[in-house]
Amino acid sequence: MILSPAVRSLKPSATIAAAAKAKALKNQGVKVYDFTLGEPDFNTPEHVQEAARAAMAAGHTHYTASGGIPELKQAICNAYERDHKLKYEPSQVVVSNGAKHSIHNVVTTLCGPGDEVIVPAPYWVSYEALVELAGATPVVVKTTEASGFRLSAEDFEKAITPRTKLLLLNSPCNPTGATYSVAALEALAKVAVKHDLFVCSDEIYEKLLYTDEPFRSFATLLGGIADRTIIISGVSKAYAMTGWRIGWTLAPKELTAGMDNLQSQETSNPCSISQYAAIAALSGPQDCVETMRQEFARRRTYTLGRIRALPGIDLPDPGGAFYVFFNVSPYFGKPLGTKGTVVSNATDFCTALLEDAHVALVTGDAFGAPGFVRLSFATGMSVLEAGCDRLASFLHA
Ligand SMILES: Cc1ncc(COP(=O)(O)O)c(C=O)c1O
Repeated sequence: MILSPAVRSLKPSATIAAAAKAKALKNQGVKVYDFTLGEPDFNTPEHVQEAARAAMAAGHTHYTASGGIPELKQAICNAYERDHKLKYEPSQVVVSNGAKHSIHNVVTTLCGPGDEVIVPAPYWVSYEALVELAGATPVVVKTTEASGFRLSAEDFEKAITPRTKLLLLNSPCNPTGATYSVAALEALAKVAVKHDLFVCSDEIYEKLLYTDEPFRSFATLLGGIADRTIIISGVSKAYAMTGWRIGWTLAPKELTAGMDNLQSQETSNPCSISQYAAIAALSGPQDCVETMRQEFARRRTYTLGRIRALPGIDLPDPGGAFYVFFNVSPYFGKPLGTKGTVVSNATDFCTALLEDAHVALVTGDAFGAPGFVRLSFATGMSVLEAGCDRLASFLHA
């Protein structure tokens, strides 16, 4: 065995694997209704593309400071002051190769063997793997559909041991779309303070919100909570920039210095051209974000209506992001599709749905939620309509 133990036990990203399966079918010439990937289907806004072209023309095509160029760090601080009234200094920012890389930096810099990280389930696919890669132990705390898939302060506190170091919180959540009220966040923050824990608050979907209550960053909550909060975000989702690979952390200075050091050895800097594009995204006109959000809102309403019309299926309102996450276990043990396939878990359900109806969803098993599936509505309306029709006929609904 040539692989290291860490890589040997690493599970491949299930969302990427599901998308690859759908793509393999497409390559055979099959029309696939693909709802697997978590990325906006819009093009990056034109003024952002233009900033990248200008950066190249100006010769910004070399290595940069490992944690990002000062202008981008300042633009990030300005954006948080504008949007959240949060005062951060550039020395508290590390810009990375996407928010996934930022989470890796946080977990690896803060945690190691013997440390426990609390991960509420359903969770984003990479959380568990990134914690394990750091040699730490993920402690998965299940949340229920009845609670809107939100971690309660009681369940959070029950999961804490003397080894607990960090809570990985994600609101709006991938895969459930769950958002937390300010009161619910404050209750979690109090527990974190009481037990001297860090909270990594993944806020990458903060701009894609469909609730009346405005977004509140975790770092704005109780006095002092910012000292133990690491905000994760990036340009991928809000500005349709998944391919540019720019994410960031906002964190206490000591931790920021540690993450910068780690990143300097692992990857050097994030892409220089993308950094200039990110400045344009954050500092330029923001109406493109609202235009995309409104289109997502329209698709969300449509998709929720279609999924809730399926007999035996209901789900809490996803307050943000671009996913619906629902329980398909009422259909286990029943003949499905044109071949009458019988399944007993969500992974087999997704395989049968893809093979029979050419509709691609992601199994909830990947998110620590057996029996559930995730449908991404970050795709055109006509694909959504046809995909929902095909899902309904697969279920004989
Ligand atoms: C909750 C969550 N955090 C982080 C990321 C990573 O985003 P990026 O593309 O910036 O690495 C994703 C992407 O799907 C996500 O859903």
